[in-house]
Amino acid sequence: MLLANKHILLGVTGGIAAYKTPDLVRKLTAQGATVRVVITHAAAEFVSPMSLQAVSGNPVHHTLLDPAAEAAMGHIELAKWADILLIAPATANCLAKLAMGLADDLLTTLYLATTAKVILAPAMNQQMWKAPATQVNLSTLQQRGVSVLGPADGEQACGDVGVGRMLEPMDIVCQLTATPTELLKGKKVVITAGPTREELDPVRYITNHSSGKMGYAIAEAAVAAGARVELISGPVTLSPPVGCSLHNAISAEQMHQRVMQNIDEADIFIATAAVADYRPKQVASQKIKKNNDELTLTFVKNPDILKDVANLPNAPFTVGFAAESENVETYARKKLVTKKLAMIAANDISAQGLGFNSDKNALHVIWKEGEKKLPATSKTSLAQSLIALIAEQYNKKST
Ligand code: C5P
Repeated sequence: MLLANKHILLGVTGGIAAYKTPDLVRKLTAQGATVRVVITHAAAEFVSPMSLQAVSGNPVHHTLLDPAAEAAMGHIELAKWADILLIAPATANCLAKLAMGLADDLLTTLYLATTAKVILAPAMNQQMWKAPATQVNLSTLQQRGVSVLGPADGEQACGDVGVGRMLEPMDIVCQLTATPTELLKGKKVVITAGPTREELDPVRYITNHSSGKMGYAIAEAAVAAGARVELISGPVTLSPPVGCSLHNAISAEQMHQRVMQNIDEADIFIATAAVADYRPKQVASQKIKKNNDELTLTFVKNPDILKDVANLPNAPFTVGFAAESENVETYARKKLVTKKLAMIAANDISAQGLGFNSDKNALHVIWKEGEKKLPATSKTSLAQSLIALIAEQYNKKST
């Protein structure tokens, strides 16, 4: 009952995904929440207010100017009642109105009148989602502290394929229950992120594809969950999430050293870094000249940071990543055992538009007693789901 005693005001706007909201209400109430629903005129074309009233056990609110509804619970009272204002689905039109601060219906008025945490689960056509106007509205709202869950990637009602599907009710509930900052309160979490660079000579190096976005999103989600985060980062162009301590490293050996300097009393270690497995045996002191048609270099193995942490006498709850191009699950399961990990998050690097430099990813998370597939979505959203899962399994292990 992770939402016990929570007052959730569910705003439903006019998208096809509105048909999923009775299920969403049921799942929220199953977690102990009291739910009141506010529905727009357009949404009532997609889902029956009567169904929402039946599952929530409360009258559904439609209009701002309904004397009967106002007499029962006025709109300001309703805005004050809410602990969370969740808008699902949130259409492109809804995002635009919220960003502009319009108050031309009950839902937009409540948004302005509430001090509750505001969470949006957008749903729209993939092109509408990508439209610059929508993205600007979204970032305006995020800058004001609004949280955004999803949207997910996949086939759309209109036949298009892309990002814009509302997250499934179960995923929304999982993320809502993960939102409380108590999830990892007081825990020390060490995270590696980004690539490493292994020098060949003063001008050249070898490295791996990695933007660091997944690791940074995980660091941000861990901070939001109340953890004390030490982020050990390879060379990336991202700003560190507010609230974590950043330690820079260039090579795998440096990253290993930084991790070991910070691992004392860590509760959780998450290795997202794309560490170079090998480094040149010798680093040339001068630029290597192209005098020959072929160049042979000898490489030596780098330390395996993840394995070394997992094998420490007082090892933290250790989570590895497995980026694989084939036999993803088999290799991931093997790594879980051979590196003695608590959990592994596998991703298929051959999947189009996911991973490496993309803003999206999908993960198959595996641990000894179970597994969970986290479907393709933004790395921010995915990181929140992963942190919720790690916290759940960590808490099971430590109690
Ligand atoms: O063995 P493999 O490189 O496929 O394992 C990937 C996982 O191990 C990732 O979590 C990565 O961050 C971690 N790793 C590491 N040190 C290395 C190589 C990989 O921490 N030298």
